[in-house]
Amino acid sequence: MKKVLACLLAGAMVFGVSATTAMADEEKTVGILMPTQSSERWINDGANMKEQLEEKGYKVELQYAEDDTAQQVSQLENYISMGVDCLVIAAIDSGVLVNAEAQAKEAGIPIIAYDRLLMDTDAVSYYATFDNKGVGTVIANYIKEAKDLDAAREAGESYTIEFFMGSPDDNNALFLYNGIMEVLQEYLDDGTLVCKSGRTSFEDTCILRWSQETAQANCENILTANYADEDLDIACSAFDGFAYGIKAALQGAGYTEENWPLITGQDAEVMATKNIIDGTQTMSIYKDTRLLASKAVTMVDAVLQGSEPEINDTEQYDNGALVVPTYMCTPVAVDQSNYQEILIDGGYYTEDQLK
Ligand code: BGC
Repeated sequence: MKKVLACLLAGAMVFGVSATTAMADEEKTVGILMPTQSSERWINDGANMKEQLEEKGYKVELQYAEDDTAQQVSQLENYISMGVDCLVIAAIDSGVLVNAEAQAKEAGIPIIAYDRLLMDTDAVSYYATFDNKGVGTVIANYIKEAKDLDAAREAGESYTIEFFMGSPDDNNALFLYNGIMEVLQEYLDDGTLVCKSGRTSFEDTCILRWSQETAQANCENILTANYADEDLDIACSAFDGFAYGIKAALQGAGYTEENWPLITGQDAEVMATKNIIDGTQTMSIYKDTRLLASKAVTMVDAVLQGSEPEINDTEQYDNGALVVPTYMCTPVAVDQSNYQEILIDGGYYTEDQLK
């Protein structure tokens, strides 16, 4: 009899606990802020986050700010006054969010930084991202191997290169630049790589808000001013959007298949992958946004349910107020040789999407 009672009680407790967890999940709302729909990756990020959070029983609010910083601030303030339970933020310019983030903290709303670190705030609990310096080293190592820079150095040959780096208000952009220069600086120093515009510093090559139009205009100006007599061999670009602008500038300047340069990118967007297939872009960086979303979801669970999220970096991401516990996903280079296996067989895109 005692045994039966104990069993019944245990059963009731188990049932009771799981029922409260499920109910708590249902009642909790996660407010997601994404920077822009102008680039495909953020549309995927938002959709993946929404889907994965809803599967777990959370209510989801999702807003895009179209790269307008004031709009993102008001979206954040709005979420705080709605009383959302948790915030997931991919910032446009995290500098302008600091006050609203402090209000969120006051209101007891935890914040997860998504892909881009939130700077100068102690209101952020966790950060889910890709290895941002790693993105730079993967791009640069790709260039190093594709052009066999060591052999070129031995033979006393050189390649021309120009740089198109990310937005100065996005912490990721400097990490990426540093990763690139960790590999390529020595070849610039010894003349194996020649940057005819002389623009090699981050300050001289960064592009505000990751603008495709600015990348195109910069490339047009550089080609006119510096490449009248010699071809550009390498366009080291930090973003697929830049690669589209560079492609347009090169076509405008009369480049053809014969002298088309090596062009890098980031995000492995559908358009970029099509360009890789037809040879007008050489490579991109594949970032599996499904994986990133799943890591961010474990962080939402952690702050709302008290579980432990998976963390693999507690050193790199100092935001000026604290070193933010981070999960870094691994970026992968894709080009003509492996897009089929990685993007199609991996289920990221269908064959039809790339036609
Ligand atoms: C992201 C990149 C993206 C870029 C432009 C960066 O913060 O890490 O994946 O290409 O923003 O949207």
